[in-house]
Amino acid sequence: MNRKKIKFISLMTIFGSIVFGFSSCSKHNENSPGVEFMPDMYRSPSLESNLAYVNKKGDTIQTNRTPVAGSIARGYIPYGYANTPEGYESAGINLHNPLEKNEIHLAQGEVLYGKFCVHCHGTTGEGDGLVADKLPGAPPSYKGALKTLPEGKIFHSITYGKGLMGAHASQLTKDERWKITMYVLKLQGNDPLAPVTAVVVDSTAKKIK
Ligand code: HEC
Repeated sequence: MNRKKIKFISLMTIFGSIVFGFSSCSKHNENSPGVEFMPDMYRSPSLESNLAYVNKKGDTIQTNRTPVAGSIARGYIPYGYANTPEGYESAGINLHNPLEKNEIHLAQGEVLYGKFCVHCHGTTGEGDGLVADKLPGAPPSYKGALKTLPEGKIFHSITYGKGLMGAHASQLTKDERWKITMYVLKLQGNDPLAPVTAVVVDSTAKKIK
């Protein structure tokens, strides 16, 4: 490359930088990002869902409508017991495992227990998991104070949580929670494959035969 060419390229570069510099200051707005290389990448031309837009004519366009109050997703069955002491007692009496009680579901419950519960409740359910002593109060033993806890209350407590234990409804589907419930019954020393695993504990629960 000869000297002339180098001089020309340098001049063009300086000139280009000046033009570019001015163009980015032209909006006089300190919040402006300046020249946008590909505006479509920043502001998508597609419409987002659940938003109202005003078009050029001034009409408001709603992309899709908010579901009416009380709508539920297809295939989703709401859990009918409230997170209250009454809901808890009622679940203990009326709520039963809808799944077939077989070895496969029990084995799947054991695997899930190993992922979601074992670190607090311990392998044998004694409440001696690896993080149990980091809690202000260790979980009670399934074989001790919780031995007679009926399946409905176990499911209810997994769903909403209890005391220091958090709710697990967002991490585990309903079926998964029932499978774990079956495994907890086994850890209690009860028969998780018995047709109705309701243990008579308190005066209200005596209604179950
Ligand atoms: C962060 C630790 C922790 C995790 C994780 C945890 N628990 Fe608990 N769990 C506790 C504590 C603490 C209690 C005692 C709560 C109380 O009575 O205040 C408890 C109580 C319970 C009870 C008794 C509830 C009742 O109605 O009295 C059951 C059943 C139970 N847990 C099952 C499970 C199952 C099944 C899992 C896994 C899906 C699980 N827990 C995960 C800490 C935990």
